Amino acid sequence: MESPYRAAGDIHVLPSSEEAPGFGVLPVNAFLIADDRPVLVDTGLATEGDDFLTALWSLVEPDQLAWVFLTHDDRDHAGNLLRVLDAAPQAGLALNYVALSKLQEEWSLPVDRVTVVNPGQPFDTGARRLSVLRPPVYDSPGTVGLHDPGTGVAITADAFGAYLPELVHDLSEVSDADLRSGFVDFNRLNHPWVSLLERPTLDRALSELLRLDPELLLSSHGVLSHGHTATLVRAMAEVCTMEPFVAPDQAAFEELRDEM
Ligand SMILES: [Fe+2]
Ligand SMILES: [Fe+2]
Repeated sequence: MESPYRAAGDIHVLPSSEEAPGFGVLPVNAFLIADDRPVLVDTGLATEGDDFLTALWSLVEPDQLAWVFLTHDDRDHAGNLLRVLDAAPQAGLALNYVALSKLQEEWSLPVDRVTVVNPGQPFDTGARRLSVLRPPVYDSPGTVGLHDPGTGVAITADAFGAYLPELVHDLSEVSDADLRSGFVDFNRLNHPWVSLLERPTLDRALSELLRLDPELLLSSHGVLSHGHTATLVRAMAEVCTMEPFVAPDQAAFEELRDEM
């Protein structure tokens, strides 16, 4: 877990990463919208829960946190959800119904604090009106992202992530070649169904994001990309023209195992 930093306006990144043997590192970001009604977007990795909470409470007092907005139910997004909700009893929980249902298979969530959201709907935090979006690619059917027209930020959950040689903050710190290979690997591995799409179908999903014209894409697994939305969208469109990703087999796994 690294120190939080500002992405744009009052939106902060709570950055971490996971080792991805054979690929590099994968950023794992949560975000905090730090206005009068603070919104935490995702809750970090459970494996570093104490550090995550320390970083979070350095930005907002627990009793001031108004919302936890969960992009989806995966472990790397919901890792510290129960601990955050426990420490911040005023906070509502906003998430898609499918994500809620999946989490309820393991956890007993405070459903009286839940607001369910769907793509295309507004999400009024009490301090600003965000819109809920469906990222163009995702790995859980319960995935939702956010668009903040005020700051020009779109939060895209898993979409637009990339493996990196090392964790950095900004796209400008990554070479084009490293970004391309890490982007292609991650976006084929994490949502392999993209390879089944015809290009026009993916283009339609991507055009919804382009229509919003965000100045900054914040991916849970990416780095800051000010003014690069069109480039990243073009890179994503190419992913569906590539061969499907093949995960390591047993022999490759045995080579990677020592790094794990
Ligand atoms: Fe995911
Ligand atoms: Fe993820």
